[in-house]
Amino acid sequence: MTQYQIIEDGETVLRDGTIKLHGPEGYEGMRKAGRLAADILDALTELVKPGVTTGELDDVVRQMTLDGGAVPATLGYRGYAHSCCISLNNVVCHGIPGDKAIKEGDILNIDVTPLLDGWHGDTSRMYVAGEAPLKARRLIDVTYECLMIGIEQAKPGARLGDIGAVIQEHAESHRFGVVREFCGHGLGRLFHDAPEVVHAAKAGTGPELKPGMFFTIEPMINLGKPGVKLLNDGWTAVTRDRSLSAQFEHSIGITEDGCEIFTKSAKGLDKPPYS
Ligand code: MF3
Ligand code: CO
Ligand code: CO
Repeated sequence: MTQYQIIEDGETVLRDGTIKLHGPEGYEGMRKAGRLAADILDALTELVKPGVTTGELDDVVRQMTLDGGAVPATLGYRGYAHSCCISLNNVVCHGIPGDKAIKEGDILNIDVTPLLDGWHGDTSRMYVAGEAPLKARRLIDVTYECLMIGIEQAKPGARLGDIGAVIQEHAESHRFGVVREFCGHGLGRLFHDAPEVVHAAKAGTGPELKPGMFFTIEPMINLGKPGVKLLNDGWTAVTRDRSLSAQFEHSIGITEDGCEIFTKSAKGLDKPPYS
């Protein structure tokens, strides 16, 4: 049985398995955190080019987050010591920034989560260094489409499984693999909360969506098979078959008649500008 909990203004929120239903204070908080998150990803667009290291990009994310009056929620999260995740080529998610320089033709996901005034804005996008091969661009396009058609399902009365169903259907129609090991998640005052938002599911299953629910949708789609493995650093997830992987993530809130995307780019930079 899914349990929902109405959250009052300023209320302390526990990770107790309930799905939180937020009011105007939550929407205001998420709009600000989401706006900052999107602005940070916007600023990275012109910085991602061959030669820049992932550590340098992480420095920019940290500085912009602090300048925006927030802190990176990943910094110190379960021992993670960086301000964002940067996942290159065959890395599915949770790539750790470091000394590695980006090369011409690389594709990468940058995932940021500023924590602003107690609210988490969690979003990620794909970037391309120079010119990427056609198959990489197709993977990126289809993954973005997966996120957006998933978001189209997000409205009161729908079930959470409706989102995963359309994402899986779309990705698999292109013979791409949908990663099962990582999911979207409820968020708000907490970074990772109920419900789990799976990206492969049966329509009509899972909890009913209600106004006030905040969660992410963040499909990871592989050019090859869906399998992943974890590297020895305990964080970096890579495709088992070494194929390329792409991901996009938005934080959304269910409204009376649909949903609000908290992390949309104010500059229309939600996906790479090629094509
Ligand atoms: N931002 C990631 C997400 O979408 C979580 C990263 S946690 C970290 O949920 F510790 F790996 F940074
Ligand atoms: Co997330
Ligand atoms: Co994220």
